[in-house]
Amino acid sequence: MRSDGAQAFDALAPRYDGLFSPEANPLVGLMRARVHDILARHFRPGTTLLELGCGTGEDTLALARRGHALVAVDPAPTMLARAQAKLAAAGRADAVRFVNAAAGALAERWPALDLRVDGVFSNFAPLNCELSLDPVRRLLERALPPGGRFVAVVLPRLCPLEVALFLVRGQPRAALRRFRRRPQGDVDGMRFPMRYYGPRDFDGALGAGFRRIETRSLGLALPPLSFGPVLARAPRLMAALAAVEDRLAGLPGLSRMGDHVVLVYQRR
Ligand SMILES: C[S@@+](CC[C@H](N)C(=O)[O-])C[C@H]1O[C@@H](n2cnc3c(N)ncnc32)[C@H](O)[C@@H]1O
Repeated sequence: MRSDGAQAFDALAPRYDGLFSPEANPLVGLMRARVHDILARHFRPGTTLLELGCGTGEDTLALARRGHALVAVDPAPTMLARAQAKLAAAGRADAVRFVNAAAGALAERWPALDLRVDGVFSNFAPLNCELSLDPVRRLLERALPPGGRFVAVVLPRLCPLEVALFLVRGQPRAALRRFRRRPQGDVDGMRFPMRYYGPRDFDGALGAGFRRIETRSLGLALPPLSFGPVLARAPRLMAALAAVEDRLAGLPGLSRMGDHVVLVYQRR
């Protein structure tokens, strides 16, 4: 079935937390904890953040608990409804304004929304659903004040461990999926066009108005998220891989590859 990323994730929304909770997939917990450490280093508590592709609101709630106000955006209405319910159940609804929009489309709507934010972030690949980063640049130019930071967690093209693991499993098509000219996402059999983006793609698209100040791999020694349920049976191996990951993930050359990469930019 053909769709876009928003439709595919909308259908997944009721099962998303069950599939991607740290209990169901321990890699999610390990990776989310690392993203939260990075967000804490770049965004002071009390500031207002724009979250692109909030999904069911896991990060939204964690950041509201840290004292942030948020504008949480997602194009999938069921994702947004789940996030709203989660924040309300935790008594944090007042901290968040929810907006139903894709990141790129928000660029055009941003001036009319009359909102002010201090920083922008997007976790676990929403921006890979944007087929061009130009509207994302326009949004950041409109939303971010000078000195404001943008943290993006995206799927890059180079993920050596994914290639190796799929080849070992005898799945060459899956091993090479990030190198296809027109790559497709696949959520529960719903396929949609998407793009893999690394630091060079973002540097080129964001241009001279933004400076990349941090690059870190997420899923270099740790396997891609889809292997999490298998790895859950080997907690000591997972802890050892996490320790290796923490030593290597920021090294030049290695930091730009992996299941995901974390890119941090500062508006000039
Ligand atoms: C893998 S989920 C990540 C959700 C959440 N950030 C998290 O960490 O759990 C990807 C999310 O991106 C949203 N999405 C899809 N296309 C998008 C777009 N063009 N702009 C922003 N978000 C998008 C989906 O609806 C989905 O909620």
